[in-house]
Amino acid sequence: MKKTRILTGLVLAVSAFLLTACGSSTKEDTSVKDIQKKGTITVAMNPEFAPFEFKTLVNGKDTIVGSDVELAKAIGKELGVKVKFSSMSFNNVLASLQSGKADIAISGISATEERQKVYDFSTSYYESKNVVIVKKDKLADYTKTTSLKDKSVATQKGTIQENIAKDQLKGAKVVSLVQNGEMINELKNGQVDAVVFEKPIAQAYVDKNSDLAISEIDLKSGDSDAYAVAMPKGSKALKAKIDKVITKLKKDGTLDKQVQEAYDLSVSSAD
Ligand code: ARG
Repeated sequence: MKKTRILTGLVLAVSAFLLTACGSSTKEDTSVKDIQKKGTITVAMNPEFAPFEFKTLVNGKDTIVGSDVELAKAIGKELGVKVKFSSMSFNNVLASLQSGKADIAISGISATEERQKVYDFSTSYYESKNVVIVKKDKLADYTKTTSLKDKSVATQKGTIQENIAKDQLKGAKVVSLVQNGEMINELKNGQVDAVVFEKPIAQAYVDKNSDLAISEIDLKSGDSDAYAVAMPKGSKALKAKIDKVITKLKKDGTLDKQVQEAYDLSVSSAD
């Protein structure tokens, strides 16, 4: 009797020890150290998204510019590393974090609840609502979410606009395309009837295309649609650094200024 009791006690003690040992051995957060060791932070983006990220000629050279680029540079500075941009289609941007091709992703990414399950996100840095672009001469035809019934609506593949269009533009045929430029071309030549974008992106396209306009169709945004920097899961230390950078840029007005400057640049530059 006594022997079994001692034995049970021993088993309990051992398992308790194993449990704590396992608990404390959860992987160490090396998110900042790893990047600093490499000396470079690789940032995934889809640079077809003015004013946040787009390509333009700088001193005759094709260069990725925009407010997200400025944000990436500020993060690089905070970490004391160089910044490298990896350009790809939007539907690959988040996956590049899982494959290790990029360290962070900055691409006007909405930190939706679904994405938060798979990735870590910084504090948000920009909020905007969704709008519908149509041909200017059709403005009077498309005024409500039901006006696009049986019409073709283009959205960028892998974006939240795909679901926003499907859920809110009742009866519309939603076509997902990889390139934003292609959606605009299809709208201009009548292959689709409307395109859904967040307001600043829509405005930048409309300002460059006098045959297009933002309709008065009212779309609802979700609570977690604001833009944030995406990181692989387990990046607590990195998130703390990035949050610090964003909080400062937001507070002193730098971020809004950078969005405005990038907007002016995009509208004045040729595609
Ligand atoms: N905010 C939207 C999303 O997260 C669209 C982002 C598209 N970004 C881009 N660079 N094309 O789904």
